[in-house]
Amino acid sequence: MRILVRILSLTFLLFIVHTTSSPLWWDDHQELPSTTTGSIGYPIRPRDPANTSVNPNAVTGTTCIDPTAVLNTHDTNVAILSICGGIAGSIQFCGGDPSTTVGASGTSKFTLTAVNAAQGATINVSKGRWEGCVRAAQAVCPTGTFSSTCVGGTSDGVGFTFVLSGNN
Ligand SMILES: *[C@@H]1O[C@H](CO)[C@@H](O)[C@H](O)[C@H]1NC(C)=O
Ligand SMILES: *[C@@H]1O[C@H](CO)[C@@H](O)[C@H](O)[C@H]1NC(C)=O
Repeated sequence: MRILVRILSLTFLLFIVHTTSSPLWWDDHQELPSTTTGSIGYPIRPRDPANTSVNPNAVTGTTCIDPTAVLNTHDTNVAILSICGGIAGSIQFCGGDPSTTVGASGTSKFTLTAVNAAQGATINVSKGRWEGCVRAAQAVCPTGTFSSTCVGGTSDGVGFTFVLSGNN
């Protein structure tokens, strides 16, 4: 009788192990859609390719300050995403409505100031517009430090000055 109980409980144990682990065995192929659908239920797309298009009219008054200043490109790219306390990843706008903000990393520092900061204007630029303004200024000043004005991206819609300088 004890042996029969042991056999029955062992059979039951095997049954449990089999039923709980079996999806690992035969759902292999059904797992494949997880490469296109995330666990939170919406599609995961490959990272959007970087926008390299330049609109010269995105900025005004670009002035190259010191074209010989050596700024590390990766530092500059990190500094771009460090304005407004950080706009990396899924953050799409400058948050906090600052009238002025700094984004710095390694060799590079951006200082942004609303043109009409004295009148209370604040910066709420989208990441796309901000990156477009930097590309437009870099098209004029491909190396070194510069100052420029991004059109729009502020509470009054006028714009903000931005200066790329050494981060000393
Ligand atoms: C790419 O940049 C250009 C110039 O700044 C801009 O007009 C365009 O809307 C951007 N495209 C995307 C998909 O963000
Ligand atoms: C920035 O602020 C202005 C004025 O409040 C508003 O019209 C605009 O939609 C805001 N832009 C963003 C990207 O939040």
